[in-house]
Amino acid sequence: MQPFQFHNPTRLIFGEGQIQMLTQEIPKYGSRVLLLYGGGSIKRNGLYEQVLLQLEAISAYVVELGGVEPNPRLSTVHKGVEICKKEQIDLILAVGGGSVIDCAKAIAVGAKYDGDAWDFMTHQAVPQDALPLGTVLTIAATGSEMNGGSVITNWETQEKLGWGTPLVNPKFSILDPNYTKSLPRDQTIYGMVDMMSHVFEHYFHHEPNTLLQDGFCEALLRTVMETAPKLLEDLQSYEHRSTILYCGTMALNGVLNMGYNGDWATHNIEHAVSAVYDIPHGGGLAILFPNWMKHVLDENVGRVKQMAVNVFGIDPSGKSDRDVALEGIEALRSFWNSIDAPSRLADYNIDDSKLEAMADKAMRFGPFGNFKKLNHEDVLAIYRASL
Ligand code: NZQ
Ligand code: ZN
Repeated sequence: MQPFQFHNPTRLIFGEGQIQMLTQEIPKYGSRVLLLYGGGSIKRNGLYEQVLLQLEAISAYVVELGGVEPNPRLSTVHKGVEICKKEQIDLILAVGGGSVIDCAKAIAVGAKYDGDAWDFMTHQAVPQDALPLGTVLTIAATGSEMNGGSVITNWETQEKLGWGTPLVNPKFSILDPNYTKSLPRDQTIYGMVDMMSHVFEHYFHHEPNTLLQDGFCEALLRTVMETAPKLLEDLQSYEHRSTILYCGTMALNGVLNMGYNGDWATHNIEHAVSAVYDIPHGGGLAILFPNWMKHVLDENVGRVKQMAVNVFGIDPSGKSDRDVALEGIEALRSFWNSIDAPSRLADYNIDDSKLEAMADKAMRFGPFGNFKKLNHEDVLAIYRASL
């Protein structure tokens, strides 16, 4: 275990009816609110009305910006920054999924900066200040509600870049599982794949003595796998929506990875695919992750074997470590197939015509990944195996 510090400043407010906590949280930061949301799901499921009621109750001055895209775009960030500056906004309230929250984070730093917010994503500048933001989460997936990360797409240059700063950790996040019940089946699946992938990104490392961390990761993976089929049978189940919502937050809020660094190569490889083809992040991960695992297997067969045994229940007796590990990777693929996650790039009509361009994008900041450093050839090999 390496030395570490853990500090997560987000107040997590979880459970039925907790939307009313907006009236206590917002006034701590001011009264001029930018209300940010996506393409309209919150208007259809009644959440928008509920949020407005709470804002009215505290006489907040509200400016709205709707239409944040899945894979949120820099052009929308620019619109939000302009509003914040012009309207002297005190707090950004992001109501939606990871895309809305990520967009809010970029607006929060852009509003306190004279240049283009894109400078932060391209590492040309480091954020020094940010507007406070709060969230009401509507999809269990990214963990953005309780971390300082964000991913923004520049559609003009077809780049999708992750960036982060503790300055944009939400001040509070309200998670009422009821508001995730309207999430369609496909997005529910992508979200579960994404949170499992966050655990995998943590889990594949070479650090010795991470017994408790491994146990947390394995328990989270088993919980998602146990709950996923039940939730897909009954998308209206409060119980299963709650379990999955809690899993999504815990998978990427810093609790799982104290004392070691995870890998994060597969996320980078996926972002390059979404940048070019605008596919759902979780769908891309379902295609790529097992192929990344096979590609890097020989870096540390024992680690992959541990996943196979402790997460997928593979019986190791009489088998080589490598065979057990490979069985584990196949078990992951079978599980994702069983919940109808995509398994090939062809599922999104992606052929081999842009593999080089995607690999170039993934390599933007040089070789990457901590479990195994990947270069251009590695990335291409993983894309080819995923066709
Ligand atoms: O836009 P609306 O109308 O709200 O519809 C959304 C969107 O179409 C819909 N949706 C969300 N909640 C709903 C709902 N529909 C019905 N009922 C509800 N309750 O779902 C669609 C997808 O939403 P989105 O916010 O894009 O999903 P997600 O939370 O998976 O976010 C994906 C984005 O987050 C980034 C991804 O790369 C992608 O851009 N990530 C952010 C991370 C972070 N900040 O820590 C880490 C992740 O690894 C990820 O890269
Ligand atoms: Zn992710």
